[in-house]
Amino acid sequence: MRSLIPLSLLLTIFDTPVHAIVFPFHVRFGNPSPSSALQRRSPVPIKDIGNAQYVSNLTIAGVTLPVLLDTGSSDLWVHFPNSPPTSSMTDLGKSITLAYAVGNAPGEIVASTVQLANTTVNNQAYLFVNDTSKFTANINAQGYSGLLGLGPNEGSMIQKKINGDAGDNLLQNIFQQDKATDNYITVMLNRINDPGTTLTGQFTISEVVPEFSNVTSMPKLDVETVNRLLKSDQHWQALTDKDQGVIGPDGSPIQMSSIVPKAPDGQYVAVLDSGYTFSQVPRAMSDAIYGRVQGAYYDTTNQWWVIPCGQYLNVSFNFGGHNFPIHPLDLVDDNFAQLDSTGKKVCIGSFQPITSAFSLLGSYDMILGMSFLRSAYVLLNYGDWISGSSSQDSPYMQMVSTVDAVAARQDFINVRLSGNDTISTPRWTLLPANETQHSPISAEEKKKMYQEKILSHWPYIFIGCLAVVLISVGLCIWKCCCKRCRHKKGDIDLEGTSGKKGFSLFKKKEAKRESYVQLESKNQSSANLVSPHVSSFHQNDSTPAFPTYPPDQGDYHRNSYSSYRSQQSYNQPQQSYNQPQQGYQSYQGYPQAQYPQEQYQQHAM
Ligand SMILES: *[C@@H]1O[C@H](CO)[C@@H](O)[C@H](O)[C@H]1NC(C)=O
Ligand SMILES: *[C@@H]1O[C@H](CO)[C@@H](O)[C@H](O)[C@H]1NC(C)=O
Ligand SMILES: *[C@@H]1O[C@H](CO)[C@@H](O)[C@H](O)[C@H]1NC(C)=O
Ligand SMILES: *[C@@H]1O[C@H](CO)[C@@H](O)[C@H](O)[C@H]1NC(C)=O
Ligand SMILES: *[C@@H]1O[C@H](CO)[C@@H](O)[C@H](O)[C@H]1NC(C)=O
Ligand SMILES: *[C@@H]1O[C@H](CO)[C@@H](O)[C@H](O)[C@H]1NC(C)=O
Ligand SMILES: *[C@@H]1O[C@H](CO)[C@@H](O)[C@H](O)[C@H]1NC(C)=O
Repeated sequence: MRSLIPLSLLLTIFDTPVHAIVFPFHVRFGNPSPSSALQRRSPVPIKDIGNAQYVSNLTIAGVTLPVLLDTGSSDLWVHFPNSPPTSSMTDLGKSITLAYAVGNAPGEIVASTVQLANTTVNNQAYLFVNDTSKFTANINAQGYSGLLGLGPNEGSMIQKKINGDAGDNLLQNIFQQDKATDNYITVMLNRINDPGTTLTGQFTISEVVPEFSNVTSMPKLDVETVNRLLKSDQHWQALTDKDQGVIGPDGSPIQMSSIVPKAPDGQYVAVLDSGYTFSQVPRAMSDAIYGRVQGAYYDTTNQWWVIPCGQYLNVSFNFGGHNFPIHPLDLVDDNFAQLDSTGKKVCIGSFQPITSAFSLLGSYDMILGMSFLRSAYVLLNYGDWISGSSSQDSPYMQMVSTVDAVAARQDFINVRLSGNDTISTPRWTLLPANETQHSPISAEEKKKMYQEKILSHWPYIFIGCLAVVLISVGLCIWKCCCKRCRHKKGDIDLEGTSGKKGFSLFKKKEAKRESYVQLESKNQSSANLVSPHVSSFHQNDSTPAFPTYPPDQGDYHRNSYSSYRSQQSYNQPQQSYNQPQQGYQSYQGYPQAQYPQEQYQQHAM
């Protein structure tokens, strides 16, 4: 669905302009690639925890801690597993709570010295989380002690809370300290349990991984092209190629409409977010990827497709005219020791239907998480997001594929099919298109979709109502004028024929009564004007009409507004944590390396 009038009309009413600077929209393709860094910083190793989470070491107040790398949020928070080095912290006097699906991270905003990649930042503001009781799991036991948000400083909650530069996020400070280098980072995620890969996970600042230095000659994908609702809603996002955005397993493009109001026809808005283990794609897209797999079924509890592990699927994305094949080992994910009801090992479709309100509100179509990012090396250039930097370029992303599709197919055969290429046997062929299974839409999701439609149609409804009022008033005035004309005419006529004032008065009264009648009937007509408007809305709406949610009717605004509010925080982690968390739970105690290949075979047959 493409709404013609975006939410922005509505949102301008509510949006308090927190940020004074407005990024002008300008694309500068064809600029020289980022110059080699004048001062090199060593790459930061990234540790892959079960293909479900990626962490790097950060030294904070003298303590080295593993933190999650999250391109989907902008704040740094840490929990010290041992006694916190409070003497090395400056309390900035504010406390906030960052909300995540694994629980809330409440804490004090403090400042300490932070070291990352040979770079030291003094007085770096971060959230000191001492109380982890609100988390549903022991985060330290799961391999991390905090989270480093790599999103734009503008999206930082801490920066909002602490006015001035003192609240700036880590990357803002790193780039600002060294103005000679370009404002970019790169992220390479490795894949465990893949015999064919030699890549190591690494995170670089202002330099590229030499092996994939060709990333700098890839097209610059502008991240601000698609109008975001709010500045703080800005993500690392790009448009997929027109009509070829996602190539499904049958070799043809997956066709559907973007829910982003301003997305060009035939293109999807994709957010790159390293905080998601599983990519979040429109339901119809997830169904197109997995719905034709023999033996696949949809798990409504976890909201993902369950797939036989031996299923090879060939799916790719297109950005900037380049093809990004998804590694087949990532498409059908075996990292979470999932068993079906008979105890047989099954895999998970890692391109999961998106159910988040963030998406349903029309900000973007999909979130490409780790299941995508393991197949691409990504450069994120912050450009003029870094205030006070010499760079005045718009921020952009560059990506280069790290997957050789033919070699990846062979890896899949080796890992999942015991080296026996049975991919094109009847067991593994896709069902005919007319037998595609579709995953059910949950009631909650229907409601969110419904709210989105109300929200996106809100300007129409408002304008419609306004038009009705104006027309009514207009008609009323017109009628009155006419009446006067007629009265005058009548008076003249009467005066002309009889000249009797009394008669004339009587006539006037009658005329008045007439006008009441007319007004009544006009009320009627204005009521008629309203109802077609509502019913046309119903018609346009494929979701259940109003009566399905009567109790909510009065609440639409509040509901929608509040969900939009929570979105404003750029606090994607909320959702980001959802999947990883499930990942962690399943991951615990699951011996990755000792996975007998025969199991796949058994299970595959
Ligand atoms: C960064 O630190 C590592 C070890 O701490 C050192 O070997 C390397 O030379 C440093 N790089 C720079 C550019 O200072
Ligand atoms: C983090 O540092 C610890 C030692 O302090 C080291 O054992 C670990 O391998 C490091 N992790 C990463 C991802 O570099
Ligand atoms: C952190 O939490 C521990 C245990 O709840 C408590 O004893 C300690 O005083 C807290 N420290 C700070 C700095 O709040
Ligand atoms: C980029 O470089 C890598 C490693 O040399 C190579 O495998 C890949 O094909 C190159 N990609 C492009 C688009 O040139
Ligand atoms: C995957 O599908 C695309 C599009 O149909 C095709 O061009 C490509 O050769 C396929 N890759 C493999 C490894 O079969
Ligand atoms: C490979 O799979 C085919 C079809 O299932 C089977 O007939 C054949 O024996 C297998 N070959 C090996 C070497 O396992
Ligand atoms: C799907 O189409 C094929 C022919 O293309 C037909 O044989 C088959 O019966 C159809 N299946 C269903 C469920 O309609």
